[in-house]
Amino acid sequence: MTQLIAGNWKMNGSLAANEALLTALAQGLATPPRAEVAVCVPAPYLAQVRALSAQLPSLEPLQLGAQDVSSQAAGAFTGEVSPSMLKDFGCRYAIVGHSERRQYHGETDALVAEKARQALAHGITPIVCVGESLAEREAGTTVDVVKRQLAAVIQANGHCISEIVLAYEPVWAIGTGKTATPEEAQAVHAVLRAQLKAATPQAERVKILYGGSMNAANAATLLAQPDIDGGLIGGAALKAADFLTIIAAAR
Ligand code: 13P
Repeated sequence: MTQLIAGNWKMNGSLAANEALLTALAQGLATPPRAEVAVCVPAPYLAQVRALSAQLPSLEPLQLGAQDVSSQAAGAFTGEVSPSMLKDFGCRYAIVGHSERRQYHGETDALVAEKARQALAHGITPIVCVGESLAEREAGTTVDVVKRQLAAVIQANGHCISEIVLAYEPVWAIGTGKTATPEEAQAVHAVLRAQLKAATPQAERVKILYGGSMNAANAATLLAQPDIDGGLIGGAALKAADFLTIIAAAR
């Protein structure tokens, strides 16, 4: 399957910095990439990124994503952004259940599953993040944790589970410069694939991304693993040259 390289800008950027980054990406994408490419940007910048993508023809393949989405469709939910609002701004993807939201905003497995369901109901592909903390890895519970997190999403979404993108992001590898080895990552991806297979005959079409200190130097070996179908890139997605190198490493 075509791999997906998705940048997660997190809470970074400004009008000026985004324009510089996208202009540099446009130059690098003058030759269309093999992989699918997306950037998940802070909600206030969706309109800017959409407008710039329309102005810069080589950004045509660049898909737009959000970093979160409400579990509610509309109404009195101050501060939330609904999936139909994201749709209005041309969003194809929304990250849900990023570990930073689970950790700092108390998002539970059930809430993440509901966000994924709402996104799918409005034609947005959720990029569902799962991953264990360092303590959980050291306690030998990695597989239990990621299976529990995915099980909630499977339970809430039934056969629609084949429409999601999944991302394995070990918390200890995020922003730390410590990457899972290709073998460590592949082992967890294989567990997730098996769990998807038990839930849907279409498991092979679910992209399972790796995220956590993926960079220009380590992307190629990670992306060569059989069950790694792309990357969710934080820090390296803010540097055009690094993001372009990762895109070029994808198949
Ligand atoms: P880094 O690539 O900065 O480690 O972040 C990964 C991540 O959290 C992407 O969602």
